[in-house]
Amino acid sequence: MTEGTGDRLLIRGGSRLSGSVAVHSAKNAVLPLLAAALLTRETLHLRAVPALADVTTMRALLGELGAELREPAPGELQVRCVDVAGEAPYALVRQMRASLLVMGPLLARLGRVRAGLPGGCAIGGRPIDLHLKGFAALGAEVSLRAGYVEARAPAGLHGARIYLDYPSHTGTENLMLAAVLAHGQTLIENAAEEPEIVDLAGCLNAMGARVSGAGTPVVRVDGVPALGAVDWTPIPDRIEAGTLLIATAATRGEVELTGVVAHHLQAVVAKLRETGAEVWQEQGRVFLVARRRPAAVDVKTLPYPGFPTDLQPQMTALLATAEGIAAVTETVFDNRLGHVDELRRMGANIRVEGRTALVTGVPRLSGAPVQASDLRAGAALVLAGLAAAGETEVHGRGHIERGYADLPAQLRSLGADIEAGPGRVAEPARTLGGGA
Ligand code: EPZ
Repeated sequence: MTEGTGDRLLIRGGSRLSGSVAVHSAKNAVLPLLAAALLTRETLHLRAVPALADVTTMRALLGELGAELREPAPGELQVRCVDVAGEAPYALVRQMRASLLVMGPLLARLGRVRAGLPGGCAIGGRPIDLHLKGFAALGAEVSLRAGYVEARAPAGLHGARIYLDYPSHTGTENLMLAAVLAHGQTLIENAAEEPEIVDLAGCLNAMGARVSGAGTPVVRVDGVPALGAVDWTPIPDRIEAGTLLIATAATRGEVELTGVVAHHLQAVVAKLRETGAEVWQEQGRVFLVARRRPAAVDVKTLPYPGFPTDLQPQMTALLATAEGIAAVTETVFDNRLGHVDELRRMGANIRVEGRTALVTGVPRLSGAPVQASDLRAGAALVLAGLAAAGETEVHGRGHIERGYADLPAQLRSLGADIEAGPGRVAEPARTLGGGA
């Protein structure tokens, strides 16, 4: 059952995006930063917190665990975990896999944690074996019982040398969160290098932790007895920024994004340049101009700094109308090509062979009712609708709202004709030059 199937976005394609838009803080930075509040009795003060469904879910989970939450000003959040419980209910873990990020801090703080084991989701199996193996290396006794995972370390956690078979993004974060209060030194080898991990390490160090090497394959954590208060502003959302850049390329527009970190976007900028878009960056801003039909380019997703899997569906939507044949290979998740069937409904010519989508560009897609299967697939279908001829209904708007603070509003501010739900306020659509 795809939740939120009753909610939809209506898009009338053909507007060329133009203008300037600011990028929000990163969902995948804010979620682990909120979990870090569990490590201390002192206050974690976060600024520029985006209004996302997943942030609401994490706030609810922290509240369930005993945290006090305050909003001193719009977009600001203060979290104080004086007394915390050690159980993450399955209902919330099922709703959002990132709920697992409370396991490391609770194990570090309380010496025990019980969490509903997450099921799979729309993009693949999503096991957590690497998280659990790391907790065991740190001295926890891990057991699975009735769909719950329990980890107990009554004598506290001790430093360890942990090798991750795969550079898991939240696996690295969960183990950092567990190790900061452990006795002794922990090395996390073959660690993930995503910018959100670097942001988390910076915040933990501002709380008094001793984390070094974040953003490299070896993260070192020297345990400390306690952590204190922190006032922190998360990094910008590189996936939201990449989504908007790809939308601009898909509509042959010209857009400036503000409040970005240029080097976080290197993979998507490089690929968009290969398609023929002009992109340049200066202090905190990135500009993209696309004047003609994109050239087909091959894309292969990899852990950072490779091309991000979270932009693969969006890139596939762009390549659906490119000149030539593109091979899009998804190496991170085992089932993240669900958007292909929906793009086909819009006239895309895509053949899937294993983990690779062979995309033969067509001059233009045609609007159709389509179903978002997850957050990024939903964004991809919106992008396809923006450039398509006619009207597209993207069902499952709730998926998109999990990770984009207000994508329709951002796109509307750039001239897109996009409206939530029934009825619409159609702005004058600035049409694309020529069909091709
Ligand atoms: C994080 O998910 C992100 N989520 C994902 O963003 C993102 O796509 C992914 O990292 C890659 O960057 C958050 O940060 C909250 P992984 P995560 O562990 O940590 C396998 C979005 O749309 N694996 O790096 O779950 C796993 O099955 C979301 O914002 C194991 O086998 O990703 C997958 O194939 C989607 N065992 C691969 O590793 C484990 O214990 C990458 O997973 C853990 C992971």
